[in-house]
Amino acid sequence: VDVRLDLFAEIARLKKEKKAVVLAHYYQEPDIQDVADYIGDSLGLAQAAAKTDADMIVFAGVHFMAETAKILNPGKKVLLPDLKAGCSLADSAPPALFEKFKAKYPDHIVISYINCSAGIKALSDIICTSSNAEKIIESVPKDQPIIFAPDRNLGAYLQKKTGRDMVLWNGACMVHEIFSLEKILNLKAKHPGAKVIAHPECEAPILEVADFIGSTTGLLKFSHKDPAQEFIVVTETGILHQMQKENPNKTFIPAPPNNACACNDCPHMKLNTLEKLYLCMEYEQPEITMEENLRLAAKKPIDRMLEISA
Ligand code: 13P
Ligand code: SF4
Repeated sequence: VDVRLDLFAEIARLKKEKKAVVLAHYYQEPDIQDVADYIGDSLGLAQAAAKTDADMIVFAGVHFMAETAKILNPGKKVLLPDLKAGCSLADSAPPALFEKFKAKYPDHIVISYINCSAGIKALSDIICTSSNAEKIIESVPKDQPIIFAPDRNLGAYLQKKTGRDMVLWNGACMVHEIFSLEKILNLKAKHPGAKVIAHPECEAPILEVADFIGSTTGLLKFSHKDPAQEFIVVTETGILHQMQKENPNKTFIPAPPNNACACNDCPHMKLNTLEKLYLCMEYEQPEITMEENLRLAAKKPIDRMLEISA
């Protein structure tokens, strides 16, 4: 890329020229969030993708998110700035193994967290996100046993909250599993007025000390309306950008990981850069493509989620 290019101006030009919409997740780097037309959590992004009238969807997020947008918009061009932006949680559930697991529980309904591949979605009955999971679970009859995949931490949290009969797939997110309970408690002791706010992909001992648990949008809303002046934020650091923007007088402290070499930035989310975003819009690649039968099978449980969440 020509270093003299003003990437912000170029992206704005390309959006207009190509009738493109830029959808960004809260874990994206601040510059990307600042050029996005819509910033949201996984549910908000899926809903935005479902209703956009743009010709081109540029997804500043990870592969399963762009894939979901493509499933909902087969006729539109869906671009992901870096095709290698995957997700450790989605990777923890390979469809062939999950199919065998599912076969062991023929009476169970499959509710899958949206952080999974199209192959897993095609094997699921309903998709959920961290902001609508309880609602989705409550939508199925009380005596209906459930397979929940792929996140065992979110699954255990939901099992405890809803008291439902659930078997859990043993997957997890690499970012949300590295937080140190001890360091969070030390931080809390140093900042007695601070509220601990955590994403439900965190492990149970962390969630037990949290003052509030929610999706990225949930955490953002809570930090805005809660009177506390300090927050210890137990999720990926990208969310701090909007928290700080919306609440310039409040202090947001990223929760520390369990060792100095670990990092609470998602390495997949952070593969996207403003430069790659510009390049993918200019050259219209990398593009998400999908086999039609897989798309149709994966769309059914997403549609069910969107209906329940409408
Ligand atoms: P939400 O934004 O839906 O809370 O999801 C968090 C996440 O880990 C996305 O990868
Ligand atoms: Fe996947 Fe975790 Fe990164 Fe989200 S934060 S994209 S769940 S690895």
